[in-house]
Amino acid sequence: MEKQLSILGFAGSLRKGSYNKAVLRAAAELIPSEISLEIFDLEGIPPFNQDFEKTPPDIVKQFKSKIRAADAILIVTPEHNYSVPGILKNAIDWASRPYGDNSFEGKPAAIMSASTGMLGGARAQYHLRQIFVFLDMHPVNHPEVMVPLAAQKIDEQGKVIDEETRKRIRQLLESLVAWTKKLKQ
Ligand SMILES: Cc1cc2nc3c(=O)[nH]c(=O)nc-3n(C[C@H](O)[C@H](O)[C@H](O)COP(=O)(O)O)c2cc1C
Repeated sequence: MEKQLSILGFAGSLRKGSYNKAVLRAAAELIPSEISLEIFDLEGIPPFNQDFEKTPPDIVKQFKSKIRAADAILIVTPEHNYSVPGILKNAIDWASRPYGDNSFEGKPAAIMSASTGMLGGARAQYHLRQIFVFLDMHPVNHPEVMVPLAAQKIDEQGKVIDEETRKRIRQLLESLVAWTKKLKQ
């Protein structure tokens, strides 16, 4: 079946057993069949160095071209010290440069977060929204999907087993699809 829209998703954790990667995989399972969701792994993106922003490594070129080709972006972020993890910010910095070649410009986006803490990464989500202002991205506002106490909602195989969480992920995906179609009009 030809897909109506394509979404590029990435998680801000490199950890093998990452809860945020698990939430992103759940999104790929729950996405409506007429929409594609490709997952990009941030593993291997080197630390940003402005000396190379015009001649970035191949993995960054690939990341930027996949962002450009996607109709919408889905980011699933851990919270590190009340903000987004360095590896996520680093990848965003590469993909936003050089000045005038920001691959995120104008993209609709949705955010989710999972944390072992009580607030589910809420503070990181709001920092990411601030970053979106400079990137000129258009985030969906509702529903907010924060997954607190993630170790109780994701099993040892990395599957999201909490039904309420799965329902909210599905609702956010529906909302992102509707928002993306609206912005395309
Ligand atoms: C450097 C570091 C800082 C952290 N800071 C926070 C924090 O500010 N808030 C929070 O809820 N959890 C915090 N945590 C716990 C993370 O929520 C937890 O490690 C989570 O599993 C990370 O996501 P991941 O499983 O996708 O790697 C922190 C973890 C690390 C390693």
